[in-house]
Amino acid sequence: MKLYVPHDTTAVAAGANRVADALRKLPGAEIVRTGSRGAFFLEPLVEVDTPAGRAAYANVQPKQAATLLKKKPTPIAQIPFLAQQTRFTFANAGITDPLDVKAYGFSALDKARGMGPQKLIDEVKTAQLRGRGGAAFPAGIKWQTTKDVQSPVKYVVANADEGDPGTYSDRMIMEGDPFRLIEGMAICARAVGAKKGYVYIRSEYPAAIRRMRAAAVRALEAGMLGPESFELEIFIGAGAYICGEETALLESLEGKRGMVRPKPPFPAIEGLYGKPTVVNNVVTFATVPDIILRGGAWHASMGTEKSKGTMPLQLAGCIKQAGLVEVPFGLTLEEAIYAFGGGLPKGSRFKAVQVGGPLGSVFPEALLKTRICFDEFIKAGGILGHGGIVVFDQRTDMRVLARHYMEFTADESCGKCTPCRVGSTRAKEILDAAVKGEATDEDYALLNELGDTMKSTSLCALGGLAPEPVRTIMQYFGKEFQKRR
Ligand SMILES: Cc1cc2nc3c(=O)[nH]c(=O)nc-3n(C[C@H](O)[C@H](O)[C@H](O)COP(=O)(O)O)c2cc1C
Repeated sequence: MKLYVPHDTTAVAAGANRVADALRKLPGAEIVRTGSRGAFFLEPLVEVDTPAGRAAYANVQPKQAATLLKKKPTPIAQIPFLAQQTRFTFANAGITDPLDVKAYGFSALDKARGMGPQKLIDEVKTAQLRGRGGAAFPAGIKWQTTKDVQSPVKYVVANADEGDPGTYSDRMIMEGDPFRLIEGMAICARAVGAKKGYVYIRSEYPAAIRRMRAAAVRALEAGMLGPESFELEIFIGAGAYICGEETALLESLEGKRGMVRPKPPFPAIEGLYGKPTVVNNVVTFATVPDIILRGGAWHASMGTEKSKGTMPLQLAGCIKQAGLVEVPFGLTLEEAIYAFGGGLPKGSRFKAVQVGGPLGSVFPEALLKTRICFDEFIKAGGILGHGGIVVFDQRTDMRVLARHYMEFTADESCGKCTPCRVGSTRAKEILDAAVKGEATDEDYALLNELGDTMKSTSLCALGGLAPEPVRTIMQYFGKEFQKRR
């Protein structure tokens, strides 16, 4: 009998390896290690096949292994967190063996090989696929730009730096369905005329690195990669936040210190080693195989007017049901937090939510009706970014939170431009004083001015957006800053 046990980092942290070892001792048990479905609050989630489809045992402990199968498992369709999702990009995560190349199939790449490069790009344009890494730039336009540049050497780079605290969708693709990323990159390479690609992964993702390396070897053996078509290298970054910024990432790939390059020129025209380079996020690439198989119009039929398709939301913080949720764009923040996240645990009351990583805005309860899509977030004064949603309860000291975000930027600034390097350090000093109840009105006026300067003059979005969490915290929770010692 097959027993499916996740091998994902979060599931392993919850004890999945020990559970797998205990289940292996059951007579006739065949253990299949999968990725995770992303319902982290249920991990380790052990699954079995039933005539009605997969069914699961939640929060399994090793000592339960001997008697586990005597209990009735819950059909996956009856777990609302999973049943309410629309899973395409994460369709295999938690279900298949991530390294089973035959089960994966590579049917989209097979189809793409029968299509011309321009047809592939047209399909991505019709899909209206926007980048999932943060800036939401249309992937089809980026690919077209690189295709149209005359150059014998071009590159395709997957940005797997995933630096936003509270985000993990890239990791889950790489650990749970690595061939999907490889296939998306290989299709892109064919579309733009590149023969070489890199997956840039931060060193804090050791399991993802191992699985991507193993997957690349298997894809090569299966003829899906190769020197004639597309060669793929897995590159390990040292884990600086700025190396997620595409030009700093390229510097790092070239073996230099990760520092931002001025744009233009954009990487699509002058990227790695000065050659035309497509840099896309892992989830962006992983969305491409379905677009090729089902057609761009299928993708464009989901979502809102300007945010098409689905988005993997990553729920974290003070929430009952933390985990990854893939849904079409358009549901509200409230639905994400309460319908999927199950709301806050007992004793906690909602205070604030931060969306879009450490550069994203912090919203109060009044903004929970904001629909999750790129443009409504901008209208509401925030960013959707990479889809990280972190919830805070009534115990959160907003001054400490504001200082935390500015400290993050002060630590992570690459130091190349003065507004970000010096501005974030001075802003953090003011917030240090705020936490102690010592900041004056003049200090806050200076903080605002620093924020404006950083926003309008920084070289990249690290300095440009760093003032946003602080600005929104002060806008919505300003009273807490009036406390004096
Ligand atoms: C400070 C900073 C950090 C970033 N970190 C990431 C990251 O970890 N992963 C990512 O995909 N994009 C990140 N980006 C965005 C990239 O610069 C770039 O827009 C993205 O990789 C393009 O891919 P996409 O269009 O598919 O989103 C970051 C940007 C900035 C300014």
